[in-house]
Amino acid sequence: MKLRYFSHSSFQITTDAGQIILIDPFLDDNPTSPVSSADVSADFIILTHAHGDHVGDAFKIAARTDPLFICVNELANYCAHKGFRAHNMHIGGGHDFPFGRVKFTIAHHGSMTPDNTYGGEPAGVVLTIDGKSLYHTGDTGLFYDMKLIGEMTPLDYMLLPIGDNFTMGIRDAVKAVELAAPGLAIPIHYNTFPVIRADPEEFKRQVEAIGKKAVVMGYGEERAL
Ligand code: NI
Ligand code: MN
Repeated sequence: MKLRYFSHSSFQITTDAGQIILIDPFLDDNPTSPVSSADVSADFIILTHAHGDHVGDAFKIAARTDPLFICVNELANYCAHKGFRAHNMHIGGGHDFPFGRVKFTIAHHGSMTPDNTYGGEPAGVVLTIDGKSLYHTGDTGLFYDMKLIGEMTPLDYMLLPIGDNFTMGIRDAVKAVELAAPGLAIPIHYNTFPVIRADPEEFKRQVEAIGKKAVVMGYGEERAL
């Protein structure tokens, strides 16, 4: 599969079979995104939670490309009420989709939609696609069960916030990498707004200091996983 980073928490996964999965597509109102919503399409959209910087342009993209939304129950219902196709899941549950397996994890955060609808519990997501496993933590503080998540699904990649204020900062994110023990850590949710300013190279240095690997993806960069 290929992983493309749009900045903030937004990614595009292209599977070996050519399916396109978007995670938290926040593009048009995201000052750091190199692409706009009109530039992307999706077969599937995974939302970690209902905040505006994660739901982002999902509905705009969906209106054009008719993807299947994959979210926790309450947020999936919200998508369905807007007229979109949705697969309802919940934390701790996994399901096999045509592209691979999706399992939702806990995340310590909130999840109200921009129009003040309850979006259910915020979540992280563990994906198993084309033989590789990837954990997108969503927005969260540090929690010790990240160790358990890494034990139940040995992780090739971990995408995790470092921007502080709303989520883990660098120090807690480095501890998260130690606990979940991924093959490669990729920092997210930083430098989009002044309040989440953080140096991803400092995160990388600290991850390497504990004997783990990290890579800072550029905005718009795509990597083969
Ligand atoms: Ni959030
Ligand atoms: Mn956020």
